[in-house]
Amino acid sequence: MTTQPLIRSFKPTDLGAVKELTLQSFEGVTLEQNVEGALGVLHNRDWRWRKARHIDEDLASNSGGFFVAEQEGQIVGYISTVLDREAGKGRIPNLAVAPEFRGRGLGRRLIEWALDYFRGEGMSYAMIETMDQNEIGQHLYPSCGFVEVARQAHFARKL
Ligand SMILES: CC(C)(COP(=O)(O)OP(=O)(O)OC[C@H]1O[C@@H](n2cnc3c(N)ncnc32)[C@H](O)[C@@H]1OP(=O)(O)O)[C@@H](O)C(=O)NCCC(=O)NCCS
Repeated sequence: MTTQPLIRSFKPTDLGAVKELTLQSFEGVTLEQNVEGALGVLHNRDWRWRKARHIDEDLASNSGGFFVAEQEGQIVGYISTVLDREAGKGRIPNLAVAPEFRGRGLGRRLIEWALDYFRGEGMSYAMIETMDQNEIGQHLYPSCGFVEVARQAHFARKL
């Protein structure tokens, strides 16, 4: 393959493909699945339902800061962003690249795209988080200039 995927703004017709990519990508690296692994299926909704809903939440927060990577008409990656204008903070809640497109710098390009978007919106700093079990995130984010500032433990119990 010679051409690189094109990064562009999200369009409503991308939603199905973005959710599909989310479910394909986040197996093994999402808090929702960890909770289900510990407690079982909750409220008759599985982790996939919960994770796909994050996309709706990201779009509701900031649809103008949701970007997709497209290759020959297919969505092969995306990045979501939210802005806290008062604090000057840009946050990246979700990022995914299709498995067959990984390891070629697309994740890094999407992050750089989001950082440029934050700069253009006048933000002063950016944040991103990753699970302890996500080795790629733990490698990629520091190499994109992020410094680790904290680790957090998550607890869950059944009611
Ligand atoms: C995280 C993700 C978006 C990265 O996409 P990508 O296109 O592969 O990213 P890049 O190719 O730009 O960079 C990947 C980096 O991770 C490195 N890497 C790959 N596998 C690795 C591993 N097992 N451990 C550590 N680093 C690894 C690559 O070498 C590369 O680093 P380099 O540029 O220094 O060589 C993609 O892996 C993905 O969708 N993962 C599943 C969903 C996810 O984890 N999203 C982020 C949630 S925080």
